[in-house]
Amino acid sequence: MTSVLRAPIAVALDAPDVETAARWAQAVTPHVAVVKVGLELFCRCGPSIVDAVLGGSGVELFLDLKLHDIPNTVAGAASSVARLKPRYLTVHASGGADMVRAAVEAAPDVTIAAVTVLTSISADVLTSVGLSGPPLDAVRRLAALAVGAGAGALVCSPMEVAAVRAEVGPHVVLITPGVRPLGADAQDQARVATPAQALADGADLLVIGRPITGAADPGAAAAEIAAALL
Ligand code: C5P
Repeated sequence: MTSVLRAPIAVALDAPDVETAARWAQAVTPHVAVVKVGLELFCRCGPSIVDAVLGGSGVELFLDLKLHDIPNTVAGAASSVARLKPRYLTVHASGGADMVRAAVEAAPDVTIAAVTVLTSISADVLTSVGLSGPPLDAVRRLAALAVGAGAGALVCSPMEVAAVRAEVGPHVVLITPGVRPLGADAQDQARVATPAQALADGADLLVIGRPITGAADPGAAAAEIAAALL
């Protein structure tokens, strides 16, 4: 069997409907290792979206549901989606260590990826919800808390990835959105880095959406970004 070399990219399939998501997935899966299904698509289509986007491609699934509730409810949700066999499932680290641990224990075959501080949250917003101090302090604190509770992966901005890597050591998978190829439009991402820079700073998996899915030819866009990394 020929092994396929795919780039460490999770394409964010932020599509309005199943047909579009499936078309994007079919175009990009020869080139990337992971496809990411987020809240919009999962809430609209339900679990059947997973087969529609994975097909027989053999790539891994990143279920970006950002769970945040009491530990018992998060455990139930994590165990419900574990049957879809995602490689990664996101939870909010700010739900606390018991909540993160509940997800880890409920879905032992899934890598629980804890979101530290959303990239959309500024220092002012953090203060307004009672978390004063520099955002990076909150990111490092939440990263350590989540890893201590068993999270195998963390989601953080490429601007924070070097500090998070220093905080948690080499064995935790670091996932970074906010990645843009040189010259690409940043859109609503405030702090961006190029794919090569994010990897050099310690990221293991890059989440890339619109630079690929918004291109006239998503397959070609994925191939080009992937080729620069392999
Ligand atoms: O299109 P774009 O490359 O900006 O897509 C980034 C993806 O990463 C989106 O699915 C977005 O929800 C997700 N994400 C993010 N920032 C975070 C966590 C997830 O942009 N902190």
